[in-house]
Amino acid sequence: MKLLVTGCAGFIGSNFVYYLRKYKDSFIVGLDKLTYAGNLENLSKLIDEEKQRFVFIRGDINNNELLNHIFEKYNIDVVVNFAAESHVDRSIFEPHVFIKTNVLGVQSLLSVAMEHWFRGDKWLEGKRFIQISTDEVYGSLGPEGYFSENTPLDPHSPYSASKAGGDLIAKAYYDTFQMPVIITRCSNNYGPYQFPEKLIPLMIWNALNHKELPVYGDGKNIRDWLYVEDHCKAIDLVIEKGKIGEVYNIGGHNERENIYVVKKIIEILRRKTGDDKINEDLIKFVKDRPGHDRRYAMDPTKIQTELGWKHTYSFEEGLEITIDWYLNNLDWVRNTISGEYLKFYEKNYLGR
Ligand code: NAD
Ligand code: TYD
Repeated sequence: MKLLVTGCAGFIGSNFVYYLRKYKDSFIVGLDKLTYAGNLENLSKLIDEEKQRFVFIRGDINNNELLNHIFEKYNIDVVVNFAAESHVDRSIFEPHVFIKTNVLGVQSLLSVAMEHWFRGDKWLEGKRFIQISTDEVYGSLGPEGYFSENTPLDPHSPYSASKAGGDLIAKAYYDTFQMPVIITRCSNNYGPYQFPEKLIPLMIWNALNHKELPVYGDGKNIRDWLYVEDHCKAIDLVIEKGKIGEVYNIGGHNERENIYVVKKIIEILRRKTGDDKINEDLIKFVKDRPGHDRRYAMDPTKIQTELGWKHTYSFEEGLEITIDWYLNNLDWVRNTISGEYLKFYEKNYLGR
């Protein structure tokens, strides 16, 4: 099988291409623009050790000419589209970049894939376009209930609105052309290689440096945490057994309040490092994020019953592994947060 994995140098994309290493007969073309969030270092082992089975191309999913070249040269069977602008806070400062990649980029990928996969009046056998989306397209929940695949879309941030736009275009290609599209919507991922602008790695890094831990609002917003390897397993199953035209929700039933997550990180880090300057005095409640969704929680019944997926890691287990990874990869964090990201962070966040 020949896969085009876009956004392969980001957090989930890089974990996914490592996950695929177990399939000795697969060939992967990794495409990534290497924005501030993409890091080739994430792929270094793969680039060194898997020359026969992995090729990296730097480029934009909006570049139709490049996409055509890739489809022609590598005869792609499956597209897994991770490429996106992914950070909600950032989308509040610069929404246009999100629309360009998360909406128009998806359209480019779909149209080029269609050009290569639709022959005469038929779709070629075995082709699949997997659009990786998010629970955030469903909006926000009250204290009860879960998002199912039938929950109406009600996005609130420019990020989630752009992801919903991408999903709807993908759905339209299925509805109109019967293109072999499947959409997956997952909850908040965490694990190795996550860019330290997101809650968990940001708190780990700040705590290790005895910097303030900025908790938005009252800290009682809830996210449903999914260890990235469990997510990769789900996508793999969707490629193999998912039904064309369907949506699959992926979540681990690991709902936690943000303040619980931050306190747990402090507890684990203090235990692992013996540093008692890492304590709850570092927590600072700051101005809330505008339009901050209160609660996300997934109902994963469909993927469990139809495809046999279940999550392996509890939140507390996954967090221990994640913290160990960051402690062993402090240079990675230092290299990752330099340059363009730091300038953006200083301009827009400090003094919040
Ligand atoms: P990330 O920001 O870590 O990585 C995104 C990658 O996409 C980066 O490597 C970046 O360089 C690349 N990219 C951005 N614009 C591009 C473009 N125009 N062309 C090519 N490459 C481009 O994001 P992530 O956390 O790995 O998320 C991956 C996917 O999963 C995204 O689609 C995101 O919406 C979705 N998702 C993520 C989470 C999460 O908790 N991280 C939850 C739900 C859904
Ligand atoms: P984040 O990791 O940005 O993911 P998302 O917004 O996509 O869910 O944030 C997770 C939660 O943590 C969210 O409720 C916002 C909150 N948060 C903070 O309280 N402080 C922070 O510094 C960050 C980055 C997030």
